[in-house]
Amino acid sequence: MNHQRRNFIKLSSATAAWFGLAPAGSSKIPFSQVEELLNRQAPERPQGQASVINLRKAPLGQVKVAMLGLGNRGTGQAKLVNALFPDKAKITAICDMRDIRIPPTLDTLKASGQTPVVYSGSKDGWMEMCRRDDVDLVVICTPWDDHVPMAVYAMQQGKHVAIEVPAAMTLQGCWDLVNTAEQMQVNCMMLENVCYGDEELWVLNMVHHGVFGTLTYGEAAYIHNLKDQLFGSEHYQHNWRMAYHLKQDGNHYPTHGLGPVAQYMSINRGDKFNHLVSMSSLQASLSEYSKTVETTNEFYNRTDFVHGDMDNTLVKTAMGRTILIQHDVVTPRPYSRINALAGTKAYHEGYPSRLAIAGKDHEWLDEAAVKEYQDKYRHPIWDKLKDGIAKNGGHGGMDFVQMYRLIDCLNQGWPLDMDVYDATAWSSIVELSKISIELGSIPVKCPDFTRGAWEEKRQLGIFQNI
Ligand SMILES: NC(=O)c1ccc[n+]([C@@H]2O[C@H](COP(=O)([O-])OP(=O)(O)OC[C@H]3O[C@@H](n4cnc5c(N)ncnc54)[C@H](O)[C@@H]3O)[C@@H](O)[C@H]2O)c1
Repeated sequence: MNHQRRNFIKLSSATAAWFGLAPAGSSKIPFSQVEELLNRQAPERPQGQASVINLRKAPLGQVKVAMLGLGNRGTGQAKLVNALFPDKAKITAICDMRDIRIPPTLDTLKASGQTPVVYSGSKDGWMEMCRRDDVDLVVICTPWDDHVPMAVYAMQQGKHVAIEVPAAMTLQGCWDLVNTAEQMQVNCMMLENVCYGDEELWVLNMVHHGVFGTLTYGEAAYIHNLKDQLFGSEHYQHNWRMAYHLKQDGNHYPTHGLGPVAQYMSINRGDKFNHLVSMSSLQASLSEYSKTVETTNEFYNRTDFVHGDMDNTLVKTAMGRTILIQHDVVTPRPYSRINALAGTKAYHEGYPSRLAIAGKDHEWLDEAAVKEYQDKYRHPIWDKLKDGIAKNGGHGGMDFVQMYRLIDCLNQGWPLDMDVYDATAWSSIVELSKISIELGSIPVKCPDFTRGAWEEKRQLGIFQNI
């Protein structure tokens, strides 16, 4: 093949992915699938469903909660709901297919006088639980691939759902969540707890008050060395997380870093993700580490991990901003979500938190100056909930604030802080980054799950009703 022809094929592949046409050339993804996926940029809203932006429902009073999945995360989430019993919430049913996961939560609930119905020992018991009349909200803390089918079914029974992160691992899954929430007119919130962190709400509040000026770019990450957990059988039932390292490249877990940055930038509330490119490094850490684990470990001496050690995904927004999203769960380096935000008047970077203000551009503000900004712009929800945060914690308190906000909004009949369009825009990075990489790190358009409503400027609920 001559040089010109090769370039033509490369170019036509790239153009085709951008526009959602079937490209020529070679790819790990069947092109027919890419075409279909990318053609779903903003499909017409099917008849019989309506937007759920600012969805208002009748106040629920005490929210009746069903907990689905009581592994590492679900057990902690159940404790947080329990902390809101009896005034705000009650757990009426709990479910985990593994019997062994039931007693810790059941004991906690019994100690506070709650006697939930238990579903266990079967893969499908959760369906019966979702059909119960005494359930308003299903909290889903199961492995990634179960989130969408469980949430869709629960919503079809008329229940609100709160899903752990990422809400969906595929674009089809994202659309299924949007369409079901719109058909049933129920809430579908992704439990992106980091949006409620003290530092993140402080930065958000500074953005809200204009401290950053015009926002230009941000950096978000999930950098967390999980090698031991990935290889260990006591974490992640059936090693569902490791399965993704064998299955696909890209960013498997974008939302912890991205959620707050998307909120700083009013994504879906005046701006939107427009397109992205993604590039991964080589894979080396897992195959090297696999030689060091017990020979009985199912991942011993494996070399077939397809997920690069570090994934860099770069998103361009409709307003022209850029966001770098990193994913690295295997390198021996300290935890970081980066949490960087640049504006014309200020710059913040996390890990550790540092602030620079225009006029003193060449240095970080000193401790005393930062404290002034912290005192002035700390989000009031952290003061309002300080006793509950001190008592219940959860990632430094952000988990309690999140659960409180979810339940409180349902108590009051307020729109939730994060809706199905946030859940899907942030989660869609998983498959979009995979597609970009498999087609040679080319630009891929991001779907608009709001179907045009992103242009409307809207305040986050955390600034309206608290
Ligand atoms: N937001 C956070 O900070 C945070 C932290 C950890 C995990 N997570 C998320 O929480 C979710 C769960 O993670 P985890 O670490 O608790 O995993 P885990 O493997 O410890 O727990 C999953 C649980 O789901 C249960 N389960 C699976 N299929 C089921 C079915 N059909 N019916 C009933 N129960 C079923 C399993 O038995 C298991 O106990 C994931 O989406 C993960 O990404 C979020």
